[in-house]
This record gives sequence, structure tokens and C-alpha cells, in this order.
Amino acid sequence: MEVRARAPGKIILAGEHAVVHGSAAVAAAIDLYTYVSLRFPTPEDNDEELKLHLKDMGLEFSWPVGKIKETMPELGGVPGSIPSYSLEAMKAIASLVEEQSIPEDNTGLISGISAFLWLYTSIHGNKPAKAVVTSELPLGSGLGSSAAFCVALSAALLSLSSDSVKLDFNHQGWQVLGKSELELVNKWAFEGEKIIHGKPSGIDNTVSTYGNMIKFKSGELTHIKTNMPVKMLITNTKVGRNTKSLVAGVSKRALKHPIAMVSIFNAVDSISNELSEIIQSPISDDLVITEKEEKIAELMEMNQGLLQSMGVSHTSIETVIRTTSKYKLSTKLTGAGGGGCVLTLLPTLLSGTVVDKVVAELVSCGFHCLVAGIGGRG
Ligand code: PMV
Repeated sequence: MEVRARAPGKIILAGEHAVVHGSAAVAAAIDLYTYVSLRFPTPEDNDEELKLHLKDMGLEFSWPVGKIKETMPELGGVPGSIPSYSLEAMKAIASLVEEQSIPEDNTGLISGISAFLWLYTSIHGNKPAKAVVTSELPLGSGLGSSAAFCVALSAALLSLSSDSVKLDFNHQGWQVLGKSELELVNKWAFEGEKIIHGKPSGIDNTVSTYGNMIKFKSGELTHIKTNMPVKMLITNTKVGRNTKSLVAGVSKRALKHPIAMVSIFNAVDSISNELSEIIQSPISDDLVITEKEEKIAELMEMNQGLLQSMGVSHTSIETVIRTTSKYKLSTKLTGAGGGGCVLTLLPTLLSGTVVDKVVAELVSCGFHCLVAGIGGRG
């Protein structure tokens, strides 16, 4: 038996980092996906291993199920249960991961494998299976690759663990989960994200689960009805960074300068609220769209300034800002910053020639550019 699930990446239009401290943030799914397939051996296969194949990286890991049972005796895999974070279980996972030969200096990979083991064994016990992961998302660059992995894995595990899951097909042939199933997938994926990021806000797994555009504040989700096209150029600076340490850095700054940082977080909250109102308000003509785009551009610039004050910008991000501002375009980082991906608003009336020029200039700096569709399905 085999199941396959997919979940999208995301961009954060406003509010990253501040969202960890209770401010509102606005995020949208993008049409780049991570795919997880789970295949269960038949008795004839005589295969008693849990395998994880990260196809894009050419890496494969395996654990005899007997070893998993011996190391993690308390995990039984109660169908439909929500894994709860126990220190004992985490220690057991760490010892299972340690036994694998993992390329050096790869904390992101270690935490991803740990999240896989955690979600799989918590939800599905120690049954043998082979998980194959592929992704259209660049890893660790602010486009929510880890959340998309956790959501796709959770969705695949859910469709296996419950006979009562009701599935509809969308026009692309993918089965669509119902409201209660999505809630469960989101909760499971959040547990996986905690392993990968330490103290995530939950915005990444939430937008990857539900898709489209959302406002997120203190764990509360509001769906945003987009009344205007929002087109973003995504520039990947290709500068690697670690979300967990960037989030920790902002928290450290907040402890050192609580009054100033609370003011920054409050300002970000206002930016996110205004942005979501602009996107949702009705449009009568093109002039209104242009006015709205101007406001969105200004809000993005203000948010970038505040992110810089939080200490999460980077010289590569500043290079993208300098380059795009020559064309009067507004840019902000997306996700954790410190490198990674950057968003530039592409106004509706901007000519294709200008976009080509900007892209050519950014590519000549060594960056990679893409225009992803925004607001896709979760
Ligand atoms: O860079 P990413 O895709 O991991 O995005 C992280 C977003 C943060 O706001 C920085 C952290 C969070 O959990 O919300």
C-alpha cells in the first residue's frame, strides 16, 4: 500500500519574528510543494525497516523496527492521537538519529530527521515503511520547507491512521482533507515544527495546511479573502541561515531591550493588520489597485526597517533592496531573514521589460529569482 501527500511552501508578507512575540502576521501559500510518499511492505517483502529517502539530497536513512521498539518503548502509535512532547522520547529519537551517518555540520538535516521519526512513531508506531520525500522548495531559505515537510508527512500519516477520513478530489486529482482532518494535520505538523525550530509561532504549518492567504496572531487563524492580485518576485540570496538561531537572537534582543522591542512588535502588528485590510477591501477600478499597491509597498518597506532593527537583515538582503529600489520597487525579507529569500512587490502596471531588467541584475549578483503563484491550495 502507498499513500502520497503534498503541502505548499509559503511567503510571509508581513509580521515574521514579531508573530513569535504575539503580533499579527500575514502569510500566503505559494505553488511550490513538498511531496511525501509512504509505502508499506507486504509480508512477502520481508522488510522490517523504517526508511527515509530524501530524494533531492540523495540521502537515505533506515532503522530496524526492532531497534525503534527497543529504544522508544513507550511509543505505541495510537491512531489519531496527537503526539505530546516528552523529554524521554526526544532523547530516544536523538540516539536513533546519532546512529545514522549524516553529512557534517547539518543541524537542519538532523532536526528534520528527528521530526520525521517523532511524527511517524508517535502516530504510526514502529511499523516498517519507506518514506520518500521530494521538494520543489529551496531548503532553509524562508519559504517554509520544513513546515511543508511536516504537513505533507502528517497528511500522509493521517490518511493511513484513520478509516473515517473523508477525502474529496480537487481538480488536480489530489484528495482534499475535511475541516477536522486539517485541524489534526496542523496540530501534528506544529509538533514537528517545534522539533525543527524550537519555538515556532505556528504560522508556517498553518498556512501550509490551509493554503490561500491567512492572518495569524497568537495561534489564531483568520482566512484572508484576496480582493486584488498580489504578485511578488521571490529572490533567493542563497545565503544559508538557521531559523532557530535567528528566532533566538530576536528573543535575546527583546530581553535586553524590552520596551523598545515591544514598540517594534506593536508597530509590526499594525502593519500586518493594515495590510490584510487593504488586500481584503473591495476594488472599483485600476486606480484603486495602484493606490493599494503603493500602500502595500510602503508597508513592506516599513516592515523591512523594523526587521532590520530586530537584527535579522543581512548584506545580501540589503543588496536586493538596493538593486530593486533603483527601479522604485519595494522589497522586504521573508521568513527568518539572515539571508534566505526576499520579496519584491511587482505592481500590476509594471512592464515585463522592467521585471526582466531587475531579474537580470539580481541574477548577475549571484541570486536566483522566481515568480511563484500566491495563494494556492493547502
Ligand atoms: O524562515 P522560515 O520559513 O522558517 O520562517 C520562520 C518565520 C518566523 O516568524 C521567523 C518564525 C515563526 O515561527 O514564526
